[in-house]
Amino acid sequence: MIKISTHLFLEPIKTSDDKVLYSLMKEIYPPAYSHFWTDNGDWYVNSNYSKETILKELSNEQAEYYFILFKKEVVGVFRIIWNEKLKGLSVTKQVKLHRIYLHPKTQGKGIGTTLLTWLEVKAKEKGYTSIWLDAMDEKPKAFEFYKKLGFKYHSHTFLPFELLHKEVRKMSQVYKII
Ligand SMILES: CC(C)(COP(=O)(O)OP(=O)(O)OC[C@H]1O[C@@H](n2cnc3c(N)ncnc32)[C@H](O)[C@@H]1OP(=O)(O)O)[C@@H](O)C(=O)NCCC(=O)NCCS
Repeated sequence: MIKISTHLFLEPIKTSDDKVLYSLMKEIYPPAYSHFWTDNGDWYVNSNYSKETILKELSNEQAEYYFILFKKEVVGVFRIIWNEKLKGLSVTKQVKLHRIYLHPKTQGKGIGTTLLTWLEVKAKEKGYTSIWLDAMDEKPKAFEFYKKLGFKYHSHTFLPFELLHKEVRKMSQVYKII
C-alpha cells in the first residue's frame, strides 16, 4: 500500500481482484461515459475489465495498476505505464497515465490533482521527463482537469469503435514536460 496523503492510498491490484475491479468499473464508468455509446458502454467495460484483459494488463512489468483508496474505501483505479512512448513526442523518458477513474462521489475533491502531483514527483525521481495520456475531447471536465495541471495538446486520433457515437470519437494525446 502506498500512502499519498492522510486519507489517500494506492493499493496494488492483484490477479485475484479481477471481480472487484470489474464491479467497480461497472459502477464508475457508466455515469461518466455511458452517453458516448450506443450500448451505454457495456461492451467497453466488459472487454477492458474482463478477467483475460485484467490478467494481461497485470502481467505487464512496465505497468503499475492500483485501486485508489480514500478514507479506507475503494473509490477508483489508477494505472501507469513506464517507458510507454507517444508517437512523435521527442522526449526520451516518458510515462503514460493509462487510467484514472474516480467514483462520482469523490470527484472534484482534489484527489485527481493529488495523484497526478504524486506521479510527477515519482516520475522525476526516476529520471523521467514527461507524462502523457489519451483524453476524450468530448469529456470537458477531464480535459479541463489536465489543462489546469499544465498538459498540452500533442496530437489526436479517432477511435474506431462501432458502438461509439461518431461525434465523440476524437481522442487527444496530451503531455506535460516535468
Ligand atoms: C477527471 C478526474 C480524474 C479528475 O479528478 P478530480 O479529483 O475529480 O479532480 P480535482 O478535484 O483534482 O479537480 C481539478 C480540476 O479538474 C476540474 N474538475 C474536476 N472535477 C470536476 C467536476 N466535477 N466539474 C467540473 N470540473 C471539474 C476542475 O477544473 C478542477 O479544478 P478546480 O477544483 O480548481 O475547479 C475525475 O473527475 C474522474 O475520474 N472523472 C471521471 C472519469 C474520467 O473522466 N477519467 C478521466 C479519463 S481520461
